[in-house]
Amino acid sequence: MRTSHPLPLAARADGLVGSVIDSSTSLLHKQTHDIVRFAMGSPAAEAIPTDILSGVAESALGHAAPDAFDYGATEGDPPLREALLETLEGTTDQTTADRLFITAGGMQGLDLVCKLFVDPGDLVVVESPTYTNGSATALSYGATLLEVPVDDDGMVVDALPDLVRRQGRTPKAIYTVPTFQNPSGATLSLDRRHRLLELTREWGSVLIDDDPYGMLRFEGEPLPSLRQLGEGDPLVFSVRTFSKIIAPGLRVGWVDTAPELHQLLINAKQAMDTCTNLPAQRLLTGFLAGGHLESHLATQRRQYRVRKEAMHAALRENFGDIARWTDPEGGFFLWVTLENGVNTADLFEVALAEGVAFIPGSAFSPSGRFPDALRLCFASTKPDRIHQGIARLRRAVDLLAKLGR
Ligand SMILES: Cc1ncc(COP(=O)(O)O)c(C=O)c1O
Repeated sequence: MRTSHPLPLAARADGLVGSVIDSSTSLLHKQTHDIVRFAMGSPAAEAIPTDILSGVAESALGHAAPDAFDYGATEGDPPLREALLETLEGTTDQTTADRLFITAGGMQGLDLVCKLFVDPGDLVVVESPTYTNGSATALSYGATLLEVPVDDDGMVVDALPDLVRRQGRTPKAIYTVPTFQNPSGATLSLDRRHRLLELTREWGSVLIDDDPYGMLRFEGEPLPSLRQLGEGDPLVFSVRTFSKIIAPGLRVGWVDTAPELHQLLINAKQAMDTCTNLPAQRLLTGFLAGGHLESHLATQRRQYRVRKEAMHAALRENFGDIARWTDPEGGFFLWVTLENGVNTADLFEVALAEGVAFIPGSAFSPSGRFPDALRLCFASTKPDRIHQGIARLRRAVDLLAKLGR
């Protein structure tokens, strides 16, 4: 029966802005024509180690392991915690058991840090452009966002003090994707990493170090992670995930934080989802304990480098006269800026009809900046299809330009 009462929504419902990126997944599922998909930030289908995962499935999930389908420990399944600690040894993400907490993907790590630290009205610094779902999470807790520009060396940290001064208050949190940033592909330089940590300490802000792509470096020299440079500083909250290095559908990640937050994280997660999906954790345990990660990553890095180069070549061929783009040393994304006045939100539909999908630049700015930019994921498409997709994109741009939009 219908009532005439409006739905009694909480005030926070206004802050639930969703994600253009995630919505593109459903939109693309509904399309029946051939589309080259540069939209989602997913590993390639052929990069998912299905053989290894199905190889470990029998012992991890078979009839000898009914407990794999039970509830699990909130802080993470002990065998996965152990295998992960061992896997991270000697890497820039090396950590200890008292700092490690398993989550339902990177997104839950972002949700947890905002839940613990962000009150309605708090100032939260985000990069501009930023990862849409990260800013959406802060907004869902009522944050006021302050956008700070990004250049080839990541967040322009030197611009931060002045921007903050103009706000008349210091930020409660600073959100950065420091390595092969989503969406720009930029990596925060070492100097800027140090300076960002200095500012974090000066202001007593929480530094949200969201680094899902760091292990996917295919060129250049690795940099120390913010987590490493922070040397256990309780203000540094590091968010990691298996989504980009193994498989996003598993929905498993981890956070690395001060031990004094551990019980609060448990309490918060118990009021959310009790524990992370146990069968997925068991599969990952088999994968890591079997020692498969390093060779898997080596193959991925090689492929992603070839794909980035293929996308660069296709862009040079098709967009040399009207666009510029970034040159990341790892990760999944290129950020392309059109210089012919085309609005990429308008371009989206025309491009989809032409058979190519991307994410418009404005999706990566809470205030709708970057109408002339777009994010392309080079990782999930084979080189010949990359060429086809970029040629289709150019056709769409020309069509739209002809229409005068
Ligand atoms: C920067 C960044 N953080 C977090 C996530 C979310 O990761 P997950 O899929 O594990 O929730 C992504 C995924 O695109 C990302 O790019």
